[in-house]
Amino acid sequence: MAKDSITLIDNRTGKSYEIAISYGIYPLDGAAIRASDLRQVKVSEDDFGLMSYDPAFMNTASCQSRITFIDGDKGILRYRGYPIEELAERSTYLETAYLVLYGELPTQAQLDKWVHDITYHTIIHENIKKFMDGFHYDAHPMGMLVSTVAALSTFYTDAKHIFDAESRKTQTYRLVGKMPTLAAFAYRHSLGRPYAYPDNDLSYTGNFLNMLFKMTEVKYKPDPILEKALDVLFILHADHEQNCGTNAMRCVGSSQADPYCAVAAAAAALYGPLHGGANEAVLRMLGEIGSKSKVPEFVKKVKAGEGKLMGFGHRVYKNYDPRAKIIKRIADEVFEVTGKNPLLDIAIELERIALEDEYFIKRKLYPNVDFYSGIIYQAMGFPVEMFPVLFAIPRTSGWIAQWEELLLDGEQKISRPRQVYLGEDTRTYIGIEQRETGKTGPTSPKRAA
Ligand code: CMC
Repeated sequence: MAKDSITLIDNRTGKSYEIAISYGIYPLDGAAIRASDLRQVKVSEDDFGLMSYDPAFMNTASCQSRITFIDGDKGILRYRGYPIEELAERSTYLETAYLVLYGELPTQAQLDKWVHDITYHTIIHENIKKFMDGFHYDAHPMGMLVSTVAALSTFYTDAKHIFDAESRKTQTYRLVGKMPTLAAFAYRHSLGRPYAYPDNDLSYTGNFLNMLFKMTEVKYKPDPILEKALDVLFILHADHEQNCGTNAMRCVGSSQADPYCAVAAAAAALYGPLHGGANEAVLRMLGEIGSKSKVPEFVKKVKAGEGKLMGFGHRVYKNYDPRAKIIKRIADEVFEVTGKNPLLDIAIELERIALEDEYFIKRKLYPNVDFYSGIIYQAMGFPVEMFPVLFAIPRTSGWIAQWEELLLDGEQKISRPRQVYLGEDTRTYIGIEQRETGKTGPTSPKRAA
């Protein structure tokens, strides 16, 4: 009779073990064994027991989650069960953030209160401006954002009460409310412009555009098409299950650090060019390619191992990233207002050639969310350094949702992976006068893992 378990035979001892299999929401999806069940597999009583070795977490589920579902082979993304395409079409960023955080779409009254609570937490302490002023004029805005969001922890000392639901709610309003303000202040600092304060009459993205681009006008009026496009981009970036940044959020959160420090860690992880920094890297790459005619030559170099095609490939998606499809669509609406970004033609040609090429087909490398987002951001007037910041703002709601889920999960503890040690065995300390010259660093591994 079929059973939800596997039988493991240890050929070292001949012993067999039955290990239970659990599932996600679909019968054959998310099938997993508990890694700790392997510990019973031992050759002797004093043996530590078997571990699973999984560099880069290629096949390890670190949590059970009810927030975001991705089917990477089919190119499906859903927040709390709702397809990303429907949310992008019908929702707003703040409504989606509510959904991601609280699990259900809000009623009108809930939404009104939520929007009000976020809107009234957008102002930052005046002292934060002094931190901003301390950065060089050419400091990367992501570095400024990471530092200043961590600094919020020193202003809101009540945030350390992480098991108090009311405190978590307040920190959520503050984080979602203040991230655009920090980001906009970082941007204005780099230009030497005076900081523009939040305008509570405007929408979340409208106000963000106001804080970025307001000049001498008394009242800033965002272009409704650009405001909507940015809102859709924010919806697409709200959460993406256990990626590098979210994993950093959960890892730091698991030590019971306050959410500002945990968000700073998550944003730091997002900064890297293989993660949220990829949209910046895409723009630089397109700029370096320079023209459509140079695309074949560039693709040839990528295939020869000389660099990567940035904005292509994904750890989970082995199909077209559904977010990239939506972004490609809204690009046309944005270009109606801003005029076409000349880099678009290079990007389209790059996509066309790559998708027909055996190298990319074999490895299932498709455009990801970052491939087209930078082209839109640039057309909207954002400098490339702001691109990862534009990723971090909307992802904040996802990070907090994941952090809260972690805190309320009775199975979670401080995050602490094991290792397979390959270093030296015990050695006796050697006095400096007896040490051999020219011997530096660890010697080669003694045994394979
Ligand atoms: N260009 C060329 N080759 C690639 C690329 C690429 N963009 N991505 C993967 N490959 C190759 C890789 O060299 C490897 O080839 P081989 O089997 O011959 O060694 C194969 O495809 C498998 O790649 P991998 O590095 O094992 O895949 P991964 O799951 O570890 O990496 C990734 C995922 C996103 C880090 C990687 O695809 C990449 O570096 N892409 C470019 C950066 C990028 O666009 N990042 C944004 C990701 S989406 C936004 C986000 O979630 O942050």
